[in-house]
Parts: sequence; structure tokens; C-alpha cells
Amino acid sequence: MRNKTLVCLLLLFAAILLLPTSTPAQPALPPVLCDRLQLQQVVMNLLINGIQAMIPVTDRPHELSIRLHRHEGEQALIEVQDTGVGIPPENMKQLFNAFFSTKPDGMGMGLSICRSIVEAHGGCLWASPNLPYGSVFRFIVPVMVDRISASSSG
Ligand SMILES: Nc1ncnc2c1ncn2[C@@H]1O[C@H](COP(=O)(O)OP(=O)(O)OP(=O)(O)O)[C@@H](O)[C@H]1O
Ligand SMILES: [Mg+2]
Repeated sequence: MRNKTLVCLLLLFAAILLLPTSTPAQPALPPVLCDRLQLQQVVMNLLINGIQAMIPVTDRPHELSIRLHRHEGEQALIEVQDTGVGIPPENMKQLFNAFFSTKPDGMGMGLSICRSIVEAHGGCLWASPNLPYGSVFRFIVPVMVDRISASSSG
């Protein structure tokens, strides 16, 4: 494992332990039928990218958040938001291409793998600016809907 990645992982675990958390009340999400390790890999890649994007920022707080919502009834929406350097508009189209990286030691494979995993689960993954600073990566995956109770209750 490269040193920088190890440092990022340690920072991530420290952040999970030390940062204040807020959990807005919302109804429980139905389960998602997925390969748990693969979706963990997606979330981990997005969190590490977010941490790396905040390393050069020295003039504002570093805020990394992850949120989970129910989206349009039958999907889970996961958002990973940071206050890092942000994504220049000219890079937006290439972000998910294999081997696209702006980091000196980057492979440029993280987002490409994330997108393949999410699409293999019937979902999609995209990036947007996080205003006023940073980026937000969102992905949706279908949830398991109890169709019998849904149709009998209507
Ligand atoms: N949260 C983010 N904020 C700003 N830019 C980002 C963010 N996440 C990704 N990027 C940009 O997208 C590029 C591709 O990301 P990707 O995760 O695919 O590769 P990488 O992080 O460079 O290398 P690795 O293969 O080690 O993950 C990054 O080099 C960076 O320019
Ligand atoms: Mg990466």
C-alpha cells in the first residue's frame, strides 16, 4: 500500500472517530441487494478522493460528509461531499475515464472502478460542484421494494 494512501486511511479512521456527527431523523431505508464489499470499495474510494482533495486547502475548514437518502421511492442515494479544491469544468468529462488522474502518484482508476461497480448494481454515479467549494459525488442504487405490500396497500 502506498504511503499516501495509508495516511489517507488513517486520517479517514481518525475523522470517523473524532468528527462531530449529525444524523437527521429519517425513516429507515429498505435494504439494497448488493455486493457489500464492492459498495464499501466505492464509498471508500470517494472518501479517500475527498480527503486528498482537501489536503492542499489551508484557508477554510475541511468538511467531509456522507449522506444517505431515499430517492424517488425505489432508490438509495448516497452523497459524498467535500470542501476540497473542486473539479475544474474542463476535467468534468474525463473524471471517470480509466487512467485519468491529476495526482502525481495517481493511477486514475478509482472513479472508473466505482462507476463500473455502481452500474453493475443497476445504478449510476456522477459528480457535481459542491457550492461554494469542493465537490459532491452521488450515486444511486435500487432498493428492494416490498411489491406485495406496496400493491396491497394501494
Ligand atoms: N473529490 C474530488 N475533488 C476534486 N477532484 C477529484 C475528486 N475526486 C476525484 N477527483 C479528480 O478525478 C481524478 C480521478 O480520480 P480517481 O479516483 O479515478 O483517480 P486518482 O484518485 O487520481 O487515482 P487512484 O487510482 O489512486 O484513485 C483525480 O485525479 C482528481 O483530479
Ligand atoms: Mg482516487
